[in-house]
Amino acid sequence: MKLLDKVAIITGSGNGIGREIAKAFAKEGAKVVVSDYIAEAGIETTKMINEAGLEAIFVQADVAKEEDIENLIAATVEKYGTVDILVNNAGISGGLADLNDISIEDWDQVMAVNLRAPFLASKIAFREMSKKGQGNIINIGSMASLAAGRGGLPYTVSKHGVLGFTRQLSFMLGSRGIRVNAILPGPIDTDMIKRVLAIPEHPVCMKIGASPAGRAGQPEEIAKLAVFLASEDSAFIHGAAYEVDGGYTIF
Ligand SMILES: NC(=O)c1ccc[n+]([C@@H]2O[C@H](COP(=O)([O-])OP(=O)(O)OC[C@H]3O[C@@H](n4cnc5c(N)ncnc54)[C@H](O)[C@@H]3O)[C@@H](O)[C@H]2O)c1
Repeated sequence: MKLLDKVAIITGSGNGIGREIAKAFAKEGAKVVVSDYIAEAGIETTKMINEAGLEAIFVQADVAKEEDIENLIAATVEKYGTVDILVNNAGISGGLADLNDISIEDWDQVMAVNLRAPFLASKIAFREMSKKGQGNIINIGSMASLAAGRGGLPYTVSKHGVLGFTRQLSFMLGSRGIRVNAILPGPIDTDMIKRVLAIPEHPVCMKIGASPAGRAGQPEEIAKLAVFLASEDSAFIHGAAYEVDGGYTIF
């Protein structure tokens, strides 16, 4: 098993990509902390893992709230003694509003969940990781980390920020035994993309069929890379950002 006894927190793992990462980590022997702001969703993921005879607990946390992130890390340490792996997965797409119509509240909410939360969670988890001189942080960016027209303005800015955050944090923490990498998913078959595809004028709709893969991805296809990045198989990989997008970003 690639992650035996590693303690892994996955934010936003009540659904979609986060849920599949949580399940995949548990299968590889990790002690998984499922977290989401929707309790029923997170409890459901945890149940799935526990019913497979694997280790997981649920801790409710809204990553837009600093006190919830503090509590998430504290509850993890109380239960499992440490934090080895942090996956900053929770994210929201925000709207596609034109410049005039983007409210400060909408802008701030997307930034709080998509960009500030990875910073805060990494900062607080680092306290634990630095005690052992080892740790692993995986940030879930997006094809909107690299290109425009894949989301609204706040989303695109936040996900470009996730890429910069990944690189700079990797630069800062690599010598202290902590690897930081990013996964940049293309359109993945989750509730988020279903909501996006329901907007007919959204550019994602126009291009999925024309991409090399010609289809949306499955969340399990992101989870496989997350396992690789969290494990020693990727020991020489620092500050990288992998597009898992069916070729969606190359054109
Ligand atoms: N699905 C895609 O096509 C796609 C593409 C590129 C990037 N991503 C990124 O992947 C990540 C996961 O997306 P997904 O498709 O699984 O989305 P999803 O909407 O299916 O699931 C997101 C989960 O995060 C939780 N969440 C949302 N806001 C939260 C908050 N404030 N605190 C805690 N939990 C919160 C939700 O309750 C949900 O369980 C996001 O960062 C998203 O931006 C997704």
